[in-house]
Amino acid sequence: MKLWGGRFTKKTDSMVHEFNTSINFDQRLYAYDIKGSIAHVTMLAKQDIIGKDDAALIEKGLLEILDDINNHKLDIDPSFEDIHSFIESTLIDRIGDTGKKLHTGRSRNDQVILDMKLYTKDEIKEIDGLLKNLLEVLLKVSKNNTKTIMPGFTHLQKAQPITLAHHFMAYFEMFKRDRSRLADIFDRMNELPLGSGALAGTTFPIDREFVAEMLDFKGVTLNSMDSVSDRDFLVELLNALSLIMMHLSRFCEEIIIWSSDDYRYVELDDAYSTGSSIMPQKKNPDIAELIRGKTGRVYGSLMSLLTTLKGLPLAYNKDMQEDKELVFDAIDTVKTSLVLFAPMIDTMKFLKENMYKSCQNGFTNATDVADYLVVKSIPFRDAHHIVGQLVLYCIEQSKSLDDLTLDEYKAIDPIFEEDIFHAIALETCVERRASIGGPAEAAMSKSIEINENYLKNN
Ligand code: ARG
Repeated sequence: MKLWGGRFTKKTDSMVHEFNTSINFDQRLYAYDIKGSIAHVTMLAKQDIIGKDDAALIEKGLLEILDDINNHKLDIDPSFEDIHSFIESTLIDRIGDTGKKLHTGRSRNDQVILDMKLYTKDEIKEIDGLLKNLLEVLLKVSKNNTKTIMPGFTHLQKAQPITLAHHFMAYFEMFKRDRSRLADIFDRMNELPLGSGALAGTTFPIDREFVAEMLDFKGVTLNSMDSVSDRDFLVELLNALSLIMMHLSRFCEEIIIWSSDDYRYVELDDAYSTGSSIMPQKKNPDIAELIRGKTGRVYGSLMSLLTTLKGLPLAYNKDMQEDKELVFDAIDTVKTSLVLFAPMIDTMKFLKENMYKSCQNGFTNATDVADYLVVKSIPFRDAHHIVGQLVLYCIEQSKSLDDLTLDEYKAIDPIFEEDIFHAIALETCVERRASIGGPAEAAMSKSIEINENYLKNN
């Protein structure tokens, strides 16, 4: 049942076997392992390294194993060391000695990295699709809310009026960058490692380009030592996944704050919130909190893998087996988070009146008073000081800047005129911030349009 029993005279200690084995987690690679083996064996036959009939028999056997695992007719036996051993042994069991030719010119070292690359490529595509779906939701909400005024914050203190569209499109940009990071990683890792052997290639006249084409790689790796010990792409992937989680987590934090009773900017749909076992009134944003919480485990995977790889000599070392649980867990976590986050946002109710009211206090239009004075030829620094005095006066009187009479304005500085009230209306404050990337409807519509085109083409 072992692939390497020949030079051993004793049975492996059972705890050593247990410790060494990876089948409990690498079994998720079975379909990729078989796909890679079929490409390998097809190439071996084309190069006359094994016979055509042998190759056909092996391919048929492998496809049957694939079918049987898919249809639960064949259980993956957890007593094997890893998925590669299980599939090869099952093949030999089923088709006899011909099955023993499959591993010609190949090592588990180039096999496992091939499997990981095939798996990663598929997962990147899937995560990209989930990100795209989220972008579509963000764009839809934004399109409907280019006039929905809310406060923008710095230091979580109310700062200036913005719109819901402006806020959501900020996240759109982040998730758009996440997609482009994934695309970069995909492109960089898209080289076939198979044919690198254990570390030094093979003595057989293999055709690596042929296998690359069969398996949809853009080319082949150029150094066999590097190929079998490269886990850079997994570190890069974990980094990209960490950033996705970081973006989700920041967004979740805002949703948690916004759905709190003191804010009430949004209300989560019942389907995406949970209750309390003791407090009957509670509706908790558990999903947002969990996504925020799970960000930690994805960061953890990134740090773990970096640390595992640090100091490994060339070429393959068993330490590298540790990549799998970390990467699988991070990928699963990101996928579930995205799967839940998008509909949570999509079904969320926006309490626009509360957002507007919230923007009316906290002096979010104070900068606009200063800008008003600048237009009346007062240097900005002086204008800033005058408005500071106004704000102080307002705080003492428990008033907002909009509540003051013109006389009260004039008492601070006679330059104020009736038009101050129009200048500091929240609508004006937003509308005037029309530089590219600003919240004004005109500017936001432009960036929404650009991003709508981006979604059509990407
Ligand atoms: N389970 C191993 C891994 O995940 C497969 C490669 C084993 N190679 C070896 N020389 N023991 O890395």
